[in-house]
Amino acid sequence: MARRKIIAGNWKMNKTPSEAVKLVNELKPLVATEKADVVFCVPAIDLIPVVEAVKGSNIQVGAENMYFEESGAYTGEVSPAMLVDAGVKYVIIGHSERREYFAETDETVNKKVLKAFEHGITPIICCGESLTQREQGITIDWIRQQIKIAFLNVTADQAKTAVIAYEPIWAIGTGKVATTEQAQEVCKAIRDCIAELYNKETAEEIRIQYGGSVSAASAPELFAQPDIDGGLVGGASLKPDFGKIVNY
Ligand code: PGA
Repeated sequence: MARRKIIAGNWKMNKTPSEAVKLVNELKPLVATEKADVVFCVPAIDLIPVVEAVKGSNIQVGAENMYFEESGAYTGEVSPAMLVDAGVKYVIIGHSERREYFAETDETVNKKVLKAFEHGITPIICCGESLTQREQGITIDWIRQQIKIAFLNVTADQAKTAVIAYEPIWAIGTGKVATTEQAQEVCKAIRDCIAELYNKETAEEIRIQYGGSVSAASAPELFAQPDIDGGLVGGASLKPDFGKIVNY
């Protein structure tokens, strides 16, 4: 079975609601394709206007984070039901910036992944090693641990529909893209880990993205790798270049 590619933009903390609508309208014709899934992951306050702005296009909308409780006294957080009601289909979970600046752990990632599935939102689950870990030769061990904890208590049927984003931390926002060999090696290791946790069928269906300084220049070779099913794109997702990446 051929996996469908998925190209997601991660806008991070960029674009006010009015700027977001303007950007969507600029990018809409550039990312129009039947060949891949296209997702714009945008700041929480932009979600509602962006869902409205993408209506009638091939673009789906994702959040960049959500909380793992249903509702209540969690000042400042956004619940899964709020996302669903707003028309959000995807949510990025455990991005390295959230782990670094907002104290997210493998355990909170797992709680959020379970909640997202419970509400029918597709999680884009992020993992990735630091430069030190790569230099120490523990990349694969580290990633396997992140994946095993993220998928605790997730069923095979749920896991099949998940998206994993492999994002080496040293490649994020640095312009220093992983080599295709490095990216493919880790994405394959992730697929093997899913096969161990579940079975071959689940591993064949789950989609694994590469993220970290993806550009129009690097996308074609990366996305041609057997275990890379698209990308999670930061900086370049805010520019017309995103159209080139989607149509790689
Ligand atoms: P980048 O970000 O493409 O700007 O490196 C990727 C990400 O953080 O998802």
